[in-house]
Amino acid sequence: MTSDIVKPLTEWYERNRRDLPWRRTADPYRIWVSEIMLQQTRVEAAVGYYERFTDELPNIRALAECGDDRLLKLWEGLGYYSRARNLKRAAEMIVEEMDGTFPDDPETIRTLPGVGNYTAGAVASIAFGKVCPAVDGNVLRVWARYTGYEGNVLSARAKKLAEQEIFRVMVESAEGSGERAFSPGDFNQALIETGALICSPNTEPRCSECPLSADCAALRDSSWDRIPLREKKTARRAEKRTVLLVLDGNRAAVRRRPDTGLLGGLYEFPNVSGSMSFEETVAYLRRGGYDSLHIEKLRSARHIFSHVEWDMSGYLVRIASSEGGRYDWFFAEPEMLGKNIPIASAFSAYAAYLGIIIGKGRLKT
Ligand code: ADE
Repeated sequence: MTSDIVKPLTEWYERNRRDLPWRRTADPYRIWVSEIMLQQTRVEAAVGYYERFTDELPNIRALAECGDDRLLKLWEGLGYYSRARNLKRAAEMIVEEMDGTFPDDPETIRTLPGVGNYTAGAVASIAFGKVCPAVDGNVLRVWARYTGYEGNVLSARAKKLAEQEIFRVMVESAEGSGERAFSPGDFNQALIETGALICSPNTEPRCSECPLSADCAALRDSSWDRIPLREKKTARRAEKRTVLLVLDGNRAAVRRRPDTGLLGGLYEFPNVSGSMSFEETVAYLRRGGYDSLHIEKLRSARHIFSHVEWDMSGYLVRIASSEGGRYDWFFAEPEMLGKNIPIASAFSAYAAYLGIIIGKGRLKT
């Protein structure tokens, strides 16, 4: 890869870039928030979340002072709540230790909670024009195809190689930029955009429209369907769970998950490990002090996390009364669940029985 890619790539970007809200600002806070969201969901879904988040929390101080429940609500449906918590912790750090000013160099940005090489590079280059790479999955795919890299792109080695090579191209371009100044932020976003719009992951890439087609190894060798090679290290563990939609009148049982671990701090419908029968479910409820009036099977659902997959079966259970129950549940009106009590999106199939829609778009999780 040489700096010959820069001119066609950035010219293509100028003509084809999508008009996205985080591209209309130079505010590092907003760019950072968008980059964290984009690690979680697709661009189309991120737009709404981004606008709501930045309307409600327009600057670092507002985020640092935001209550946990409000933050949870703003993040609801995006998954990985730990990312939102890291955003807040980082905002607190910036306010307390950096005078409330977002740091402008990638090394300092990298020290913020939840920020890795990619995010640091993206924010430093887009908001501050720093010469540093921002290699996400899109960029890794473009790089691997363009250079004909046949190794595993999920390895640390591949990421490092891509970062080194792209950094070298950026340094060359910044030093030699002639009549038009080199923009590191536009260059990184041009690579991201090429990965998103042209060099697509699962369908045939649109090579005839690609600004990098002149010297692309995968196009030359017809190897786009073999590159990038993605070999996952660990297999995902499948876990059966039984989800209980326990209703006392129109109020549903919910509980809060522990702060740490999977879905930390989010609310959920009661659920237990394993696939329970009708009888086991009734007995489980009785042990908790609840008498079942009516029980019916609900549809099964699956939710995929990074290391575990939940294969869920569910029951709707009407109980005589929630008084005197011994489990750590409380009973909430469906309107509260929609508004003030964020239910983890893993349970969206069951929330739908109460008319509650969780999340707006398809998630990457
Ligand atoms: N994905 C990650 N960062 C992005 C950006 N700045 N624009 C569009 N898609 C992205």
